[in-house]
Amino acid sequence: MPSERATDTTPFAAMDVLERASERDGVVHMEVGEPDFRPPEAATEAAVAALRAGDDDYTSSRGTASLRDAISEHYADTYGVDVPAERIIVTPGSSPALLLAMLSSVEPGEEVVLTNPHYACYPNFVRLADGRVSTVDLDPEDGFEPSVSAYEAVVDDDTAAMLLNSPANPTGAVTSGDTLAGLVDLAERTDTTVVSDEVYHGLAFDAEEHSVLEYTDDAFVLDGVSKRYGMTGWRLGWVVCPPSHVEAVNRIAQNALICAPSFVQAGAEAAIRGGTDWLDDVREDYAERRDLLLEAAERWGFDLGYTPEGAYYLLLDVSELGDAFDVADVFLEDAGVAMTPGPDFGEGATDYLRASFATSTEDVREAIERIDALLATTTT
Ligand SMILES: Cc1ncc(COP(=O)(O)O)c(C=O)c1O
Repeated sequence: MPSERATDTTPFAAMDVLERASERDGVVHMEVGEPDFRPPEAATEAAVAALRAGDDDYTSSRGTASLRDAISEHYADTYGVDVPAERIIVTPGSSPALLLAMLSSVEPGEEVVLTNPHYACYPNFVRLADGRVSTVDLDPEDGFEPSVSAYEAVVDDDTAAMLLNSPANPTGAVTSGDTLAGLVDLAERTDTTVVSDEVYHGLAFDAEEHSVLEYTDDAFVLDGVSKRYGMTGWRLGWVVCPPSHVEAVNRIAQNALICAPSFVQAGAEAAIRGGTDWLDDVREDYAERRDLLLEAAERWGFDLGYTPEGAYYLLLDVSELGDAFDVADVFLEDAGVAMTPGPDFGEGATDYLRASFATSTEDVREAIERIDALLATTTT
């Protein structure tokens, strides 16, 4: 028998939909957050050169010194904060980084506070650390942005951690600097660990992003190259640790991960050192796709009730058409458009489908045309 922990781990619906959608030809994929742009050429060149040079051995479990320096410089350049390389541990993707943060800060039975809706995998990470999930409800009327007062009603001295995410998946909401500062203050008052997932940083098109590191050193910050550099399959992320937790996190990383792939670290370093000026064009594309979808959603009568400001997702309220799983099935089977049913992202997303507009503008237009045609046949 698989363990209770394994049995209780729920599937990731977006990956399930991807599996089913991949069995069909001509599907427009809006179910996963897979950026359509290529990684920076310098990253590919550096990774290939490293591999050819025989750079294929284990590295330190913390990551190579030069990559950690590049990440430290990224924090100084982007947010004006001093994050010594000693606090950074490189991981194979930001997902293992989140597991390290949970395993090193949550005791069995302790509470971890998530937003509702939240990234689908978060509750499973809490469960893997034998923690207990509590949620703070977000309201589309507030743009799904969290408020400090809503957290104050849930977080107390018994809370182990609050897991923040901005720009957020699945809503695209961006948390303001004032709110982050207020949440850090609440965490300090209640001795709660802040874990901030900043994997969509660089992809806010309508709002200013802030790292939680601007307000405290006493936090875990997760990030990586998947989203910002279009390098999802490279599997490279990192965790910035609170000074008190660096050695504990590294002990778990040494045992469970050994290290991130060496030549991938060389490629990631080149991507990070290359800066993000070219992302201006990507952000413009994302804003255009978002606007195309907002316009279409209004025509379809799928009330959004808010405007996503970052990442590359939005939530379409399809409750008028029926159950979100059924609507996702109809979209896939009859229109060849794959989207993820909202319930995977928490009770607050039950009525929604999550659409990712990381796919090309051409694909977004094609998906809109197909849904236009589908809805025209079902409503006449
Ligand atoms: C909010 C959030 N965090 C983390 C991840 C995982 O990213 P990575 O590829 O770095 O493991 C994702 C992937 O979709 C995500 O949406």
